Amino acid sequence: MLRRPILKNSWEIELLRKANAIVMEVLLSLKEEVEPGKTTLEFEELALKICEKKKVKPAFKGYRGYPYALCVSINEEVVHGMPREDRVLKEGDIVSFDFGVIYEGYYGDAAITVPVGKVSEEAERLMKVTEEALYRGIEKARFGNRIGDISYAIQSYVESSGFGVIREFVGHGVGRNLHEPPEVPNFGKPGRGPRIEIGMTLAIEPMVSAGDWRVKILEDGWTAVTRDGSLAAHFEHSIAVTPKGPEILSRV
Ligand code: MF3
Ligand code: CO
Repeated sequence: MLRRPILKNSWEIELLRKANAIVMEVLLSLKEEVEPGKTTLEFEELALKICEKKKVKPAFKGYRGYPYALCVSINEEVVHGMPREDRVLKEGDIVSFDFGVIYEGYYGDAAITVPVGKVSEEAERLMKVTEEALYRGIEKARFGNRIGDISYAIQSYVESSGFGVIREFVGHGVGRNLHEPPEVPNFGKPGRGPRIEIGMTLAIEPMVSAGDWRVKILEDGWTAVTRDGSLAAHFEHSIAVTPKGPEILSRV
């Protein structure tokens, strides 16, 4: 991996805006279809259909050998759950969709977690805290700050809410590559890490456990689950650091 962050000019940021607009359109379409009885493979098929219509390539399919366009992670699954014909959503589940596209050579990347019907109060609170942690992290993505300021904002908010941040997976720079420097951990110390510069484009993505933050990978080689089986949530936006502050590229 390259070590220096690759700064983007305004036309590159415009392409990233377009890539991420398509990602959000897909995520919102998936969200609308969520109900008990659907299989996770149905969401993969819907995501592929929209990519075809929009004439964009899904970003994850084939990435490091990942076989699908979509990651669908239910309950204790944190990230990288694979779509399956035999995996059925049920009332009370929480489901994360993580999706990316390549538009004119630029990657869009975002994730949401949504409830299936009525969910527990703990699940509700976990999703709220994770999304709020994302926005608190984004708020720190300003010239003059360092990556550790983003990390600390996320970690301190999550932990003060009684939840744990996943350490094994991190946010990242994004652009002509899905993953570019710098890494954006969801834990860390203020004032540490790379300086945040104008033109940086980052995928910020807190993954939060309602219990212990340790994860393990299932035998399929991809699905990351919490070791203690506690619920997990994941929200991700791609953002650009502009002179006026952070701009969310994956906004609806
Ligand atoms: N959104 C994930 C990330 O930023 C991408 C999934 S990884 C893949 O790391 F291998 F599944 F593509
Ligand atoms: Co990402």
